[in-house]
Amino acid sequence: MAGGDLDELRDALLRWYAGARRDLPWRRTTDPYAILVSEVMLQQTQVTRVVPRYLEWLRRWPDPAALAAATRAEVLAAWVGLGYNRRALALHDAARVVARDGWPADLRALPGVGPYTAAAVGSFAFGAQVAAVDTNARRVAERLGRGTPAELLPAGHAAEFNQAAMELGATICTARRARCGDCPVRRWCASAGRPAARPARRTRGERFEETNRWVRGRVVAALAAGEALPADIAPERLDRALAGLERDGVVRRVGAGYSLG
Ligand code: ADE
Repeated sequence: MAGGDLDELRDALLRWYAGARRDLPWRRTTDPYAILVSEVMLQQTQVTRVVPRYLEWLRRWPDPAALAAATRAEVLAAWVGLGYNRRALALHDAARVVARDGWPADLRALPGVGPYTAAAVGSFAFGAQVAAVDTNARRVAERLGRGTPAELLPAGHAAEFNQAAMELGATICTARRARCGDCPVRRWCASAGRPAARPARRTRGERFEETNRWVRGRVVAALAAGEALPADIAPERLDRALAGLERDGVVRRVGAGYSLG
């Protein structure tokens, strides 16, 4: 494709984003800590559920030093309902590193920060000109058929481009059914009108309440609330969940019982 064409695609995407962007609190800041908190929460939880939890978190722990001073039990209790506890502990560890040493040049040096999160925080907070490729941005680029997200990145506009690609994937170019008629870049899209449908996520036919993850969540919620372990869950399921949580450093044995952290 001619370079001019690619520039038109980029311009159209950025113009669309400027008008269509959802007003999300982490899009109003360039504070790397706030952005890191948002990205870790967004890894496993929907945007609408993250917003109030993100705001609460930042009110309670407004900077890395504040979070670093919290106990692991406090952090785990504040994370209840947000998914994998290990992510909360990694975020806590990352805050301790940053409070002590400042932000590293390579954000991947921080606990729990992989290539995606490093690129997101790097571009949104530090102006790094890198592509942040989450599942939405990857799918958008694949369907466009105009190169990888890194190749599509417009010079000097990585932050807006990353947000725009994610936003398009989250709201228009969705996995199950793309709304090509509403798409700002359909003119340049290799699969406009006939995007490959992604297969629905495979499930093993297991209800969430049947999973070990659900039991782990119930256990952490009970301990966070200072309650006894859930009496409605079979003891062998509780034991399995507790063994995993202990291995991950989420719970500790204390006397005959357990506590968080
Ligand atoms: N999902 C992951 N990062 C996001 C962001 N910055 N905005 C909206 N959704 C996201």
